[in-house]
Amino acid sequence: MQLSPDLADACVVPRRVSSPEEAREVVDTDGAAIVGGIADEEAAIAFGTAMLGTDLRRIGRQIEVTRQRGEEASAKVEQQPADARGRRRRFVTDTSLPMPAHNDGFAFGDHAPDRLFLFSARPAATGGESFLVDGLAVLDILARDPANAEMVEFCRTADIDHSEPNFPQGTYSPILRTTPAGRPQVRHHPYLAPVVGPDEAAQWPFVKHWSAAVTAARDTGPRFRLEAGEMACVDNYRLFHGRHGYTDPARTLYSIWGWSSAAVAVPVGELDIVTPKAPAQLAG
Ligand SMILES: [Fe+2]
Repeated sequence: MQLSPDLADACVVPRRVSSPEEAREVVDTDGAAIVGGIADEEAAIAFGTAMLGTDLRRIGRQIEVTRQRGEEASAKVEQQPADARGRRRRFVTDTSLPMPAHNDGFAFGDHAPDRLFLFSARPAATGGESFLVDGLAVLDILARDPANAEMVEFCRTADIDHSEPNFPQGTYSPILRTTPAGRPQVRHHPYLAPVVGPDEAAQWPFVKHWSAAVTAARDTGPRFRLEAGEMACVDNYRLFHGRHGYTDPARTLYSIWGWSSAAVAVPVGELDIVTPKAPAQLAG
């Protein structure tokens, strides 16, 4: 597998914006924008609410990300059983490692939020830089090499399983799909897998190639720091996010999830990432 150095170009360093209207425009075109001067979580939610305007269907805190909270959630997840392939869910608690690039809410399938707000209340003293990988750009860069034709076609057309181990979504879809509202949705997280069946062995190399390309973009592309009071507004259908390693236990970031009228499905209540419910239970 040859990974092009051009994959670094798939990383997005968001433009700074100053109003909800400007944020909306820039997120629609570039996939992300950064706004500063956010005082607290309430102000962060208020900004997201204003940005989505009349398209807003749901917005709210998802998680207060601190190392202590991560360790508590991880201990619960470790008790969960393995799936039929022997795979287990795992929340990585070693914050010195970079996070896998991911869409938030991937465990919830169609109910994942289409907009994401990452509010930095207190950045790490050093390290912990953010990264954003544009999934559409990764596919476009891969498609430039004719040797990747079969793999790119797979990403665009073959149904795969986007479920987390032991929490089946019951539906399958390609890595890149067009939503009913006509928007592209592209996905990456640590548990992507072919559908169990006769094509599984032949399809694993494509899934692994996709993951290697996204990870190469993360590791070679530009990164940026979210200072205290800054918030990244993100198209969670198009971009994968995460942070590089840090050790400062005081780092605090709020992840706020938003659903617009263009979301594939909107859950009726808050989503629990420690014990994700099946899609049927999310619809109320
Ligand atoms: Fe996340």
